[in-house]
Amino acid sequence: MRRGPVPHRLTRRTLLIGAASGGFTGLIAAPRMLEARDDGATLASLASAKGLVLGAAFAEHELDKPYGPAYAQAYVRNVNSITSELAFKMSALRPNANALNFEPADRTVAFARKHALKLRAHTLIWNDDLPAWIWQLGPGEIEQLLDTHIMTMMERYRADVWAWDVVNEPIAPWDKLPGNLRKGPFLSGLGEGYIARAFRQARRHDPNTLLVLNEAQTETADDNGRVFRDSLLALLRRLKAEAVPIDAIGLQAHLRSDRRYDYGLFSGFLDEIAALGYAIHITELDVNDVALPAAIDKRDTAVAEYYSKFLTTVLAHKAVTAVTFWELADHTSWLYYEHLGKVAQSHRRPRPLLLDQSFEKKPAWSAVAKALTAMTPR
Ligand code: G3I
Repeated sequence: MRRGPVPHRLTRRTLLIGAASGGFTGLIAAPRMLEARDDGATLASLASAKGLVLGAAFAEHELDKPYGPAYAQAYVRNVNSITSELAFKMSALRPNANALNFEPADRTVAFARKHALKLRAHTLIWNDDLPAWIWQLGPGEIEQLLDTHIMTMMERYRADVWAWDVVNEPIAPWDKLPGNLRKGPFLSGLGEGYIARAFRQARRHDPNTLLVLNEAQTETADDNGRVFRDSLLALLRRLKAEAVPIDAIGLQAHLRSDRRYDYGLFSGFLDEIAALGYAIHITELDVNDVALPAAIDKRDTAVAEYYSKFLTTVLAHKAVTAVTFWELADHTSWLYYEHLGKVAQSHRRPRPLLLDQSFEKKPAWSAVAKALTAMTPR
């Protein structure tokens, strides 16, 4: 019998397979009732009403903090999807060559099941944030790790994951390599072919889940954004020509108040991705307020404007089928944690997200609700 958590999506197929294998006998008679969700908070119901998957990055260790219950409630009330912020990364799963730590991932799956949330698993293959032992592997070993890791993860979580970020951030112009590809163990060991291999291995082990290539830094109207957009499009055209099984392109959208944006230009980029036949997921949306006024009311208003302009642009594209924020509340943002590490005593903490430290709605929350209300259905 397949190992791993009982599927949270009690589809007819899951039940029939379960019944046939004797795995889910009890579920046939009375499928486990999932805890009722409170859609009254409207962001999730607004999105669901338009056929949009609306999510946020989720870090299971936050549940253990004093604010854990409020953290959980914020997800139940605001989104219909979560993305694993840490639990499905090799740094969490494979701390050393002999261990596989599924606990954080299993806990993330359990939360998604309990609250009937889609799960975006981030990320199978990334040439960054890897435990040191992986950097020591030779080409043969790295090929075996790629194949084995994808098989293990896809088989264990087959019925639980709606979408996989199969390859994360393959582009890195600063590494000055052909195609502006990011250097790392998988590129060194397998060349650019690691990308196609990862997607083919993923499709082999799960014929149904969405397979996503996820990239950063394509949004800005500057040389850096242009190089990322051009390099990503060139890569996608090569992968398309090789019929590599990719369903969607993830654009992270970590917006920054010290960068320029031209949403007409970015809209044209979305058109080019859609013309290749890919769906588009906005995967890590937040707003770094570093260049905005210190005054909280002014800063929050400006951040809300970034969300409003960006979401109005992307939601005008039918190819955009999912939008995910990179956490929901300011104090659980990576930007907040990075800031804590750097300037312990600063009174100015980042305010990049939709909810404040009391999990109360900020102007950004209202800007998102307005954009969801205005969008045309998918
Ligand atoms: O939990 C430990 C804590 O116990 C320890 O005291 C602390 C200091 O060492 O580290 C904590 O773990 C950190 C973890 O975030 C939780 O805060 C890790 O060191 C740190 O590396 C990790 O950073 C994450 C980063 O990816 C690397 O995995 C960020 O939270 C996460 O938001 C960030 O997300 C990335 C996406 O995966 C890819 N796109 C960019 C995005 C932002 O960098």
